[in-house]
Formats: sequence, C-alpha cells, structure tokens
Amino acid sequence: MSTISSTFTKRDLARIEAESFVQTIEYHRELPSTSDRAQQRAKAGQAYSPPLLILTEMQTAGRGRNMNRWWSTPGALTFSLLCDLSDLKCSRECLPQVSLVTALAVCAGLRKLDHRSEFRLKWPNDVYIMKRKVAGILLEPVPLDPHGLVVGIGINVNNSLNTAPPDVRAVGTSMCDVHDERYELTTALIHVLNQLAAHYAKFAKGWLRLKHEWGPYCLLSGRTVCVTTGERQISGLCHGIDLDGALIVQNDEGRQRLYSGSVEQFD
Ligand code: BTN
Repeated sequence: MSTISSTFTKRDLARIEAESFVQTIEYHRELPSTSDRAQQRAKAGQAYSPPLLILTEMQTAGRGRNMNRWWSTPGALTFSLLCDLSDLKCSRECLPQVSLVTALAVCAGLRKLDHRSEFRLKWPNDVYIMKRKVAGILLEPVPLDPHGLVVGIGINVNNSLNTAPPDVRAVGTSMCDVHDERYELTTALIHVLNQLAAHYAKFAKGWLRLKHEWGPYCLLSGRTVCVTTGERQISGLCHGIDLDGALIVQNDEGRQRLYSGSVEQFD
C-alpha cells in the first residue's frame, strides 16, 4: 500500500512544473505565509516568469480575508501564485470577477479529485462541502506593480480538523474528514492548477459565463443571507449571482446588487 506524504519531493516538484502552467516553483518546508513570500518576491524586483508558484508544506502564519488567520497543518495545500494580470487580459478593476473565477477553478479542480462530495461555492470565493468551508482564497494586488496579483489558496485536504481550534472546527471541514480518505497532494495541486489555467484562459478570451457556471454550485441561492459590505449590513433572500458576478439579495428595499463583502450568515 502506498503511503501518502505531506512532503513534496524533488520528483513531485518536477511533476508540477511539467504538468501545470506554473513557470517557476519556490518550495519551502515551512513558511509563515506563502502570500507574504510572493509579495516579497514581487517587491524584490528579481525577474521571474509568471505564474510563479510559492508552495509550502507547513504555513505558520497563514492569513485569510478580512485580517483573519488561516489555520493549517501538514496535509493541507497552502500555496500562492504570483500572476500577471495582463495574462488575464484585465486590470485591477476586474479583481472581483477574477476572485469568482478563481473559486470556480478551485471547485472544479477538487471535483476532479473527489467525485463523491458535493462541492459548493459561497460568494465571493469560498469552497464548501456540506455547509462547511473546505477552501479559502485570498487575492491581493502587488502594491507597486499594476499588473501584479498574488492569488493565495488554502485547501483542507489531508489535514484533519480534529486538532483545529474550536472556531475553525465550527465552520470548517477537511476532505479527509468527509470520506475518511487521504489524497495525493501533488495530484490535487495539479488538478487545481490546471483548472486555474483553463478558467483564466477562458476568462481572458471573454468566454467565461460567470452566472451560468456559478449557478449549479451556488451555496447561497434561495437562502436568507446577512452580508457585511463596507459599513453596511444587508439581509435578504439570495438570488445567486448576476452576469457580472454581483451577489443579488432581495429585501424590503428592493433588489440589491453587491460587488464586495462577506456573507456572515446564511440559513
Ligand atoms: C480566506 O478564506 O479567508 C482566505 C484564506 C486564504 C489562505 C491561503 S493559504 C495560502 C495563502 N497564504 C496565506 O497566508 N493565505 C493564503
């Protein structure tokens, strides 16, 4: 029986380079945050061919959206891609859409790995199984480079949440906890990277129909949601997303279209 390791060997890294769209890989056994490291690489001004993959087996200070931390242990997939927005034929203005496209791609990659689970998308960019978060995405522009984008992705694959802090266990899950199965991390990563390449290419050509692709996997459609957007809190019935990726929430004040925010609650 083959054992499944949480370490990436030289052979694994060569496979990732050969079988995916990443041009360069920087691998660390341990790192505070792959997204911080990607930002450092961008700032250092050294030449690199995008997308550059920063991969680690163990992240010790992972960051999530809204200044949250991202908990993980070995067995999780934690990586960041330093991308060039010109390859996506877009600028910073379309980051809200890129965020949704990234979530669609991660979800598609995980479906290739696990055919049994019903993966769902929680606007704007979380992937869920059975109303629990299994993957999170953090998009951050590179401050002094208008084309630079860091896409940070964390996926709970073989890291059981049994040892996670209570607040993480309350809302999260891991693929290994859902089916009591472990997955080959290199294969998982390659599936996700290939879906990112395919979805970004489709988006760049203007062929990706967001509403159409998101619809079947939308976790929030038909549910009552409470969304924090800036200083405002908006509650109402969710009607999924619109053609441009806006979340549609219907309440007494009418049909609200939200372009950014966090869904704090859903029924
Ligand atoms: C979220 O759902 O809040 C986003 C979580 C993003 C976590 C990933 S793990 C790899 C990358 N490095 C980080 O520090 N964060 C992202």
